[in-house]
Amino acid sequence: MKLGVLNETSLDEARIALTPQTISKLIATGHEIVIESGAGKSANLSDSALRNAGASIAKTAKGTVSSVDILLAVGRPDPGILTHMKKGSAIIALLDPFDDPGFVQSCANKNIDAFAMELIPRISRAQSMDALSSQSNLAGYRAVIEAAEIYGRALPMMMTAAGTVAAAKVFVMGAGVAGLQAIATARRLGAIVSATDVRPAAKEQVASLGAKFIAVEDDEFKKAETAGGYARQMSPEYQKKQAELIATHIAKQDIVITTALIPGRAAPRLIDSKMVKSMADGSVIIDMAAERGGNCELTDPGKVVVCHGVTVAGFTNLVSRLAADSSALYGRNIAALLPLLSAENGSYSPDWEDEIVLGANVSRDGKITNENLAKALTAKTPPVKKPPAKKPASKTATKKSATKKSVSKRTTAKKPAAKRAAPKKKGS
Ligand code: NAI
Repeated sequence: MKLGVLNETSLDEARIALTPQTISKLIATGHEIVIESGAGKSANLSDSALRNAGASIAKTAKGTVSSVDILLAVGRPDPGILTHMKKGSAIIALLDPFDDPGFVQSCANKNIDAFAMELIPRISRAQSMDALSSQSNLAGYRAVIEAAEIYGRALPMMMTAAGTVAAAKVFVMGAGVAGLQAIATARRLGAIVSATDVRPAAKEQVASLGAKFIAVEDDEFKKAETAGGYARQMSPEYQKKQAELIATHIAKQDIVITTALIPGRAAPRLIDSKMVKSMADGSVIIDMAAERGGNCELTDPGKVVVCHGVTVAGFTNLVSRLAADSSALYGRNIAALLPLLSAENGSYSPDWEDEIVLGANVSRDGKITNENLAKALTAKTPPVKKPPAKKPASKTATKKSATKKSVSKRTTAKKPAAKRAAPKKKGS
């Protein structure tokens, strides 16, 4: 197959869909790869590095996609590009289809098969294709690194001749893939870590990482997990009890990392303004659910703000801050999926009986294939997600500024790739 990779369109996206190691492997199995010039720049991959791995470099986006069988991307590309693609070709990306069902409709209209990486079923056979996990894992790690950078103190306890530095207390809300990695990272850095989740299965996982589990463990909690292993929406009564417990706990924490999400819904609100106020000056909240509206009431998606002396960081694409590693893992996730989309002779020919292919597919032969997406298009329901950083974030105060003591000038959107300085070398 001929595979194409474009420059990503979102300003806060530094990842690329394929990296040299995966490119060489795909070429060795008979695929051809064309990459738009500059697509790897933000992940520190030059055109020549990609060319050396066997890809050809195209000068324009149109030139990249015009003859490809599958377009590979990290985020949803600009819909205008679909016009330049062959009928019957395909696109694979983290399409976030429920955020913009119109994009999938455009794919169907142009007779382009669309596959959403986030819809790959989380079954054992698909583990190597699970981009949600590969990316969340790195994002969870990065959340702790960002918190440690913002926090003006050390994380481990240090006994020195001049006195003892107390260990930081880190609380992780939501112990899914990102949360568990955040717990492990904070523990490695020497913090005292606690965590909460509404899924009972999380209790054991949290304990196995050496952290303390904090939750109201009533009957509702014991049943609070869907068959797919995801969190359920909890009753208002449970939420109230849990909020009271969390409020007491949060007041004693130095760093809070929130990762709580419920598929298809806005992020649950877990931290209100009063809880933020109860934390000591200099404390830090990293809200990893910022893209879905945030777990903290004071989160401003895409911005780092200071409220009541507490820094609240609403990073919307943390994993992009580890672009080299996250791109490499994402590329391997895609490479693992490709055999299910090609015939023995290497041509584009999905196995339409495979549950992984069917799960990820959202448009095929001019039709929307995902029932919920088709319903969302008919009902025109609004997206659950708040708009990510597509445009440079404003540095001025926002609608919530009345509740904030000060607003930092730091924004989380990165500059466009071409203008961004090369990342610092390790150890510098
Ligand atoms: P997610 O990103 O959907 O949510 C993050 C976490 O937030 C979840 O653990 C969820 O229970 C928690 N949460 C939701 N509402 C909350 C609330 N009000 N308070 C506290 N926590 C709340 O989850 P993720 O990381 O995608 O993982 C979901 C499940 O999928 C987990 O059980 C995970 O172990 C499972 N999984 C299975 C895989 C497989 O079998 N191949 C691969 C990866 C994950």
